[in-house]
Amino acid sequence: MESAIDAQTLDYHTARALLEWQVELGATEAILDAPFDRYEAPKEAPKMAQSASAPAEHDTPPVAAPTIDPVVEAQSAAKAVKTLEELEAAMAAFEHCELKRGARKLVFSDGNPAARVMIIGEAPGREEDRAGKPFVGRAGQLLDRMFAALDMGREAAQSRDAIYITNVLPWRPPQNREPEAREIAMLLPFLERHVEIVAPDVIVLMGNIACQAAFGKRGITRLRGQWQEAFGKPVLPMFHPAYLLRQPQAKREAWADLLSLKAKLGELS
Ligand code: URA
Repeated sequence: MESAIDAQTLDYHTARALLEWQVELGATEAILDAPFDRYEAPKEAPKMAQSASAPAEHDTPPVAAPTIDPVVEAQSAAKAVKTLEELEAAMAAFEHCELKRGARKLVFSDGNPAARVMIIGEAPGREEDRAGKPFVGRAGQLLDRMFAALDMGREAAQSRDAIYITNVLPWRPPQNREPEAREIAMLLPFLERHVEIVAPDVIVLMGNIACQAAFGKRGITRLRGQWQEAFGKPVLPMFHPAYLLRQPQAKREAWADLLSLKAKLGELS
């Protein structure tokens, strides 16, 4: 909105009176004419200029607007939920991730929540964004074939044969770009709660982004096939099926990892 008042000549008392008037009208938030990227803003708050028109000491000091930390918001939203339905609703109501605005659907999960194996992928792609389900595109079809080779699948009714699938991010990044570290950190509390509620015996981490969420580091070529612990569970990093589509020669390692998964499930049962 164009302002009729010249901001350069506005003195402190007029500005304050105008602000109080806005508050009386019901304004609860100060917004700018143009979008402002707070992630790009300098960490340190700018110093207030000392000028002749600065308020006298007895005037009310300016009140700093409370800053919202999306990670803290996600932590408290995730902590408050007890069921998968509540978790999905809490994620759908989470407004601090820009990805939500560019995505068609929230992609929460697929498969049997009673499964012994939980699979964590990266983020929805175009097909998943349309369907609202994880791993339904070409990579997802390969994932289904990989687990079918172990007589396991997302449709299986028995927890022994079932898989449960989710992603680090529930919204598709624009143009399928790589998730950013701050997006992963912001949505991690929901993923942690997701694992707690599903309580699988083991987790398969598909690719680098799942490893970053679980261990805070990437390096799938070195990490794959090595059982570790994360989210309080045994976890097995594997090559992402999308990588296997590009590098079919890596399917040999993927098969070895699937056999290792089968052996682990046998040990734990
Ligand atoms: N890749 C992923 O990591 N997740 C999906 O849901 C689809 C493709």
